[in-house]
Amino acid sequence: MSVIVWWLVTVVLVAVHSASARVVELDWEVEYKFWWPDCKEGIVMAINGQFPGPTIDAVAGDIVIIHLTNKLSTEGVVIHWHGIRQRGTPWSDGAAGVTQCPINPGETFTYNFTVDKPGTHFYHGHYGMQRSAGLYGMMIVRSPKEKLRYDGEFNLLLSDWWHQSTHSQELALSSSPMRWIGEPQSLLINGRGQFNCSQAAYLSNEGKRQCKFRKNDQCAPETLRVRPNKVYRLRIASTTALASLNLAVEGHKLEVVEADGNYVKPFTVDDIDIYSGETYSVLLRTHSFPTKKHFISVGVRGRKPNTTQALTVLSYIDAPESARPSLPPPVTPRWDDYNRSISFSNKFFAAKGYPPPPEKSDEQLYLLNTQNLIDGHTKWAINNVSLSVTATPYIGAIRYGLNTLSYLKSPAKELVKSYDITKPPANPTTTKSSGIYKFPMGIVVDVVLQNANVLKGKISEIHPWHLHGHDFWVLGYGDGKFRPGVDEKKYNLKNPPLRNTVALYPFGWTALRFVTDNPGVWFFHCHIEPHLHMGMGVVFAEGVDRIAKMDIPDEVLGCGLTRKWLMNRGRH
Ligand code: C2O
Ligand code: CU
Repeated sequence: MSVIVWWLVTVVLVAVHSASARVVELDWEVEYKFWWPDCKEGIVMAINGQFPGPTIDAVAGDIVIIHLTNKLSTEGVVIHWHGIRQRGTPWSDGAAGVTQCPINPGETFTYNFTVDKPGTHFYHGHYGMQRSAGLYGMMIVRSPKEKLRYDGEFNLLLSDWWHQSTHSQELALSSSPMRWIGEPQSLLINGRGQFNCSQAAYLSNEGKRQCKFRKNDQCAPETLRVRPNKVYRLRIASTTALASLNLAVEGHKLEVVEADGNYVKPFTVDDIDIYSGETYSVLLRTHSFPTKKHFISVGVRGRKPNTTQALTVLSYIDAPESARPSLPPPVTPRWDDYNRSISFSNKFFAAKGYPPPPEKSDEQLYLLNTQNLIDGHTKWAINNVSLSVTATPYIGAIRYGLNTLSYLKSPAKELVKSYDITKPPANPTTTKSSGIYKFPMGIVVDVVLQNANVLKGKISEIHPWHLHGHDFWVLGYGDGKFRPGVDEKKYNLKNPPLRNTVALYPFGWTALRFVTDNPGVWFFHCHIEPHLHMGMGVVFAEGVDRIAKMDIPDEVLGCGLTRKWLMNRGRH
């Protein structure tokens, strides 16, 4: 097609698009509130008095405008729109220190972005450990022409909950020696859970306490009401701080159809694993015989569980309100059966219609994940660098050419050949840095995440890695240390799934590919909140020369050195 024709097509498409684009405009206030998420009083970060925050319901192509007022009295706040690529609006990504300054108490900041693609997403705080504090909610982007057929849908937002305040957790994690926060006290489904008891205790003889709550309690589980012989879409998102989860519905199979906002080749399973940062849509077909109730269970995997399964009830429409499920909830698969986890991950392929990834990559980046020490403080490091985000947002530093970033001169991109991933680090000392990886526009990047042994013992943990601003192709998973030149041969280049979050399994590697087609500064990090807090992330700057010319609204900046810059020009 000639350039002129292309141009015409683009103009027409843009015109059609903007004619139909709706605006979803919301006013939100964030503040702390007393709440009973698991029948015990705690403090949550609520939006407009709600916990979890309100669900955003939009249609692909819509413009979403959120005026976010910070009503916390003493701390800043931001919100990240997890799964939205922010094409053309990288400053609306909501990552404190990376794409904007935290919003000061009393101030209002406006997020303004287009939701360009349908999918199941969520949003959450991205400053300190505010996600753990309960700052999250669902975000659904509908397709104007949905290919999937179903009769009804439910959202299930999964999270984990501690009784220790997040401020106390932050301090504990950065103390020397580090005080680990331990396993969550409870798991929440749509912000509701029950501490130290089971709704299904009446069905077992394990000596668990039977949960007690009244219908209108904040911790009372929702019931999913369904009709027989129908298909329901469950939109599931995990915003856990720590827990890897498994979800199952007693007596029902689940057909997985969407992952992280991308359609996948449908496959049917009894249960799904879901890591923090991941979202799924599954289709559930109801039985033809009504008048029954069934438990939906959510349990911990990947770490030795010390938290009771979260339960909620799938209820056929004619089941009497007082009836209880007659069969026990599904048993969560063994926490350390990693082969089972990996075989679930290997079931994912892109749905028909998605083009395959580019055949070759222009750059390869190997990221070694290790646990280390800095002056007695436990840290996570990537290629021996523990990330500490500067007070000057990266996007502003690049835009105004401020010399604040200790850019890694040549960031380590290779795996150290002699590094033994099966043993604790030989030299556990690491360094802190705010360095970033820079990529030119229009290239194909491969990232190989490499897991390793932690500081002590023979342990390697699961890390769900999430990339902002992009979907990537998951090319493969492998055991042990990645062998360049050998393991690439096993990549799936035919129909790998597109995702924005992927698990790195113990002692293994995960390979992914993306195209640098979205100028901006993008966080890439482990989605486990304490891990990120301890430095487990990197930052990608894509198209530095393009960022330097971007029209970034002044309101995004105004902290660190960007404040001085704006002040000197009378703009702040
Ligand atoms: Cu949902 Cu940077 O995260
Ligand atoms: Cu991690």
